[in-house]
Amino acid sequence: MSLATLSEVLVPAKTEGYAVAGLVCLGWEDMRAYVAAAEAEGCPVILQAGPSCRAHTPLPILGKMFRHLAEEASVPVVAHLDHGYTFEECKEALEAGFTSLMFDGSRKPLQQNIDETAVIAEMAHKAGISCEGEIGFVGYDNGEASAGTNPQEAAQFARETGVDAMAISVGNVHLQTDQSGGLDEGRIAAIQGLTDVALVIHGGSGVPGVQRRALARGTNICKFNVGTELRQAFGHALRDAVNRDPDRFDRVRILGETHDPVVAAARRVFQTMRG
Ligand code: 13P
Repeated sequence: MSLATLSEVLVPAKTEGYAVAGLVCLGWEDMRAYVAAAEAEGCPVILQAGPSCRAHTPLPILGKMFRHLAEEASVPVVAHLDHGYTFEECKEALEAGFTSLMFDGSRKPLQQNIDETAVIAEMAHKAGISCEGEIGFVGYDNGEASAGTNPQEAAQFARETGVDAMAISVGNVHLQTDQSGGLDEGRIAAIQGLTDVALVIHGGSGVPGVQRRALARGTNICKFNVGTELRQAFGHALRDAVNRDPDRFDRVRILGETHDPVVAAARRVFQTMRG
């Protein structure tokens, strides 16, 4: 059984200078490939159920899938709720066996974000699991614009919510399909100068691998969320598998061919966060 809380994997990462990948899961095929990749690399993995994953599969089922994979795995596996928007959603994830809850109050005014996140963090800690919050706003490629994290507000947020990990907005943007973006290292240093809470970067796909590795080693960033980069690998592998034989119709056989390419892509992601 190697089910772990977020805090159990981030504390050693922060001390030892590496980061843990929070990988966006959409179904059985990708989550199973991510755990196989983590085992091949000998590193922990955070399996994340975000809004579109939850729209496709009910949370209680996802909790069972994540926990089953964790029980069989030889490396620590975190069952993480990504972008929970309400108390009810976070409570449902806790009851479904998740070991980490991200409450995203980043669209709300500062004090409301602090107050609501603090309630989720307290609920999580009482149950022996972890909580991640977000301060500032990480925008979306071709969508909502980012609002950079203010270092003073970040320090206040960390102090008053008691979160185990804090997602920050420092030039990162969700859903980028290339790595042309880069993070604002000056803003990261300013945040880190005022709080020593573990830092999280959402929109990891847009961050060049070299910068991921350097920041993992040299700052308190110890979690990068990566989704798009792996969804691209899955999508391309699926398209190839479908096109390979127009007469084939059995989806288990078609989907089976995504496994190796997704394992390889996830291994490359893990390699950018350590070493
Ligand atoms: P990307 O899809 O941009 O890698 O972002 C993933 C993420 O931040 C999920 O919370």
